[in-house]
Amino acid sequence: MHKLKFAIIGCGYISTNHIKAIIDNFEDAELISVCDLLENRAELKADEYVLKAEENHLTVKRPTVFNDYREMLEKENIDTCAICTISGYRTEISIYCMELKKNVLVEKPMAMSTMDADRMIKTAEKNKVKLTVCYQNRFRPVIQKLRQTIDEGSFGRIIAGTARILWNRNRDYYERAKWRGTWKLDGGCLMNQCSHNIDLLQWLMGSEIDTVFGQTGNYLHPYNETEDYGSIIIRFKNGAIGNVEGTTCIYPQNLGETLTIIGEKGTVVIGGLTLDKVMVWNFEHKKKSIEEVQKECDLKSENIRSKGRHTSLYKNFIDSIQNNTNPLIDGYEGKKSLSIVLMAYKSQKYSRVINYNEGLNISTKDFEGMFDEKN
Ligand SMILES: NC(=O)c1ccc[n+]([C@@H]2O[C@H](COP(=O)([O-])OP(=O)(O)OC[C@H]3O[C@@H](n4cnc5c(N)ncnc54)[C@H](O)[C@@H]3O)[C@@H](O)[C@H]2O)c1
Repeated sequence: MHKLKFAIIGCGYISTNHIKAIIDNFEDAELISVCDLLENRAELKADEYVLKAEENHLTVKRPTVFNDYREMLEKENIDTCAICTISGYRTEISIYCMELKKNVLVEKPMAMSTMDADRMIKTAEKNKVKLTVCYQNRFRPVIQKLRQTIDEGSFGRIIAGTARILWNRNRDYYERAKWRGTWKLDGGCLMNQCSHNIDLLQWLMGSEIDTVFGQTGNYLHPYNETEDYGSIIIRFKNGAIGNVEGTTCIYPQNLGETLTIIGEKGTVVIGGLTLDKVMVWNFEHKKKSIEEVQKECDLKSENIRSKGRHTSLYKNFIDSIQNNTNPLIDGYEGKKSLSIVLMAYKSQKYSRVINYNEGLNISTKDFEGMFDEKN
């Protein structure tokens, strides 16, 4: 199998993680092209790739640079595109790439509407290409360990799970990129900052969504169109309840994240500034102490951290392409957290519980003007 030829489309903040991940998977992957509307950003990324390769004692060819992805796809022989543009522009670019039989790795959230997510899933299936969504936190050792413990049945019946994301984002953060905090291109804190933890919560609960009730508001960011605080109650089909509290209003800076799973025979709380500290690890049939679990996960984390945050996700995606298997986070998986957030927005708009069966044609554009009066 030849090395997969990657291109990055969108060379902003997050593209650095993609460059690292490609280098970390150098035996199976190479970056051959980079593209950004702002060509100087793409030039910088081409240099960054060469530099990072040198730091790792690797010799690579400098990627070709484009400001138009259509031209890039015409001229270069690319296998896989990493779509790292701003959220609202990813669907059309992803579909364009997949129609040309390119595999697509798309940043989170995968789209701004459930209809767009469905279009992306259908396009991947029609063209027999692979699609994955960057919920890379699923690969964190502590999360993998938690999922394994759930799968082994150590919790007994799962009763509830809670994700709390207590962050701060100030005016400067939103002014640096004007698309942030808009309905059309971003969504609010639940869609952007909390999307990883909502994905983890629903993945760990291991059941389909039944109903969603959401309450959201814009309290401290009047220059944004979208929410800066959100609370969600999810009822899963297996009867378990999921709770989400997410905000970018924490004074004066990020406080941290927690993920709690409550089961009949076990309770786990993961916390810390970046959800990597085992706070509680209690089971009826206690096998390991908090310290033992933490040590085991830290050893694996160190390995992963030194290699970069998207590395394991890239490895999983490359394997799925080479072996024609499903990536861990395919389009259907990527759509789940998106649906929860959109249902919570709809719930806020109509002040009622939203049933999954009532049809899921929801777009962030449906909520334009939702907080205008309050601002
Ligand atoms: N997985 C994660 O942990 C994670 C972390 C941060 C951001 N993100 C996601 O990554 C996305 C990008 O975030 P960012 O902070 O890097 O944004 P950014 O504004 O820094 O970068 C986006 C880049 O896309 C470029 N772009 C826009 N339209 C384009 C087009 N048609 N063709 C080529 N380039 C185009 C812009 O010029 C810009 O350079 C967001 O959707 C965000 O949700 C994911």
